Amino acid sequence: MNDKILILDFGSQFTQLIARRIRELNVYCEIQPCTKPVPANDPTLKGIILSGSPFSVNDPKAPKPDIAAIGAIAPTLCVCYGAQLLAVQGGAEVGQSSHREYGRAHLQDVQHDPLFATIANGSQVWMSHSDTIKALPQGFSLLAHTESIPVAAYKASAAFAPNPVYGIQFHPEVTHSTDGGQLLKNFIVDICGCTQDWTPAAFITETVAKIKAQVGDGKVVMALSGGVDSTVAAMLINKAIGDKLYCIFVDNGLLRKDEFQQVLDGYKHLGLNTKGVDAHERFYAELDGVADPEKKRKIIGRLFIEVFHEEAVSLKEVSFLGQGTIYPDVIESMSVHGPSATIKSHHNVGGLPEIMHLSLVEPLRALFKDEVRRVGREMGIDEIFIGRHPFPGPGLGIRILGPVSAEKVKMLQEADAIYIQHLRDSGWYHKVWQAGAILLPVQSVGVMGDERTYEFTCALRAVTSVDGMTADFSHLPHELLGKISNDIINRVRGINRVVYDISSKPPATIEWE
Ligand code: XMP
Repeated sequence: MNDKILILDFGSQFTQLIARRIRELNVYCEIQPCTKPVPANDPTLKGIILSGSPFSVNDPKAPKPDIAAIGAIAPTLCVCYGAQLLAVQGGAEVGQSSHREYGRAHLQDVQHDPLFATIANGSQVWMSHSDTIKALPQGFSLLAHTESIPVAAYKASAAFAPNPVYGIQFHPEVTHSTDGGQLLKNFIVDICGCTQDWTPAAFITETVAKIKAQVGDGKVVMALSGGVDSTVAAMLINKAIGDKLYCIFVDNGLLRKDEFQQVLDGYKHLGLNTKGVDAHERFYAELDGVADPEKKRKIIGRLFIEVFHEEAVSLKEVSFLGQGTIYPDVIESMSVHGPSATIKSHHNVGGLPEIMHLSLVEPLRALFKDEVRRVGREMGIDEIFIGRHPFPGPGLGIRILGPVSAEKVKMLQEADAIYIQHLRDSGWYHKVWQAGAILLPVQSVGVMGDERTYEFTCALRAVTSVDGMTADFSHLPHELLGKISNDIINRVRGINRVVYDISSKPPATIEWE
């Protein structure tokens, strides 16, 4: 078993970032709500980190676990709110002062301590706090201050807790804290003594063994989407149980041009036991005349479940359902803010495990998206799958604004294929996080040859993002946009105007519906 760092989440916007930084050091970590007790007898648990929080420690409703008890279990690093809570529990005063600090600051008088090994005076750190620790508790040692606050980093006394317990007012997890990565490494590797062996290869070996132990001789059924998560999850399950994994890939008629056949061929090439189910007519029939985006989503989601269910039932003696759930999905549903309302309907095969008495096999539950990609590459999965842009479950169904028809799908598939090919040819595909064409229900006048036209408008969307939660439009060169527009208008019958979406998220969203 790998060494583990536990992150107690107090609701900071940066909690996931702490986890990512630790994983980058090849050390395994987990996030759990700060209200859940820390296990006292877990031999793999080597250190604990308390995240920041939107709460003030002086708020009566603020979460206040006993840090001395936590520090009795393992070395503990308390970040921002955590540092303030530690100060209060040590007996010091924390409160509003004239010295609020947001953004850049520089550490001064950095003391000789393992936490700051190789970190020099003047190191830039990122602050985000309005309350300030006014003085240190008795017996605690100051490790650094900044120009405007007296306590930027400190260590609790040995009398407070038997393991080292640190408080740092700044955020080491953000890249603006220049030595933040070094500080986390000092804490995790040197102070907690973690071995840096959480690598993709180790993950694959361990996960395959776990799947074998869980599934035994059983059969697993799984829906594939063509995306990276379900593909990598399926490959891990396949490595464990071979053809006893039955994959199903549904053509809902809303995929990209030729995608159904291409992806199906790709799966066969990877050795996945996959059945392609062409259900496009069923989807078109039920979507006929439906304009409301949420209604369209519900119809597409329900039909997908129906089709998948029919296929799964026809397989005899299946007892497991494979899913490509990744760590952000898991965190979302257990954060201190409560279950998130944003679980994507298409990924949730709604109620099927209960109806069919299936147990879940979710080999990627502990991984972030970039780690899924690293594992996929380690397994030799083609870049066609690994580097693929995210694509929504309801597909072109929510990129054709208003009612969907077979004719409009065809039109949008053609325009989208031209657009994506241009992005690939120009080297922009991998600089963009997600791109796609949208068919607007807007007709406008144009002129082609000597004829007046009255045709549809196609919008192009390309965004940069890290996780889809926020996004900016990609700054595609005008010349490239000009070529794409020209090609689409000349080659796609029914479109006579192309526009480029220059909105960011928020306030706009990535998809138009
Ligand atoms: P928005 O439009 O909310 O999109 O900015 C954020 C990310 O989520 C994808 N998306 C969906 N994915 N089912 C999905 O599986 C959906 O209903 C859905 N709606 C949006 C979107 O493509 C982007 O990656």
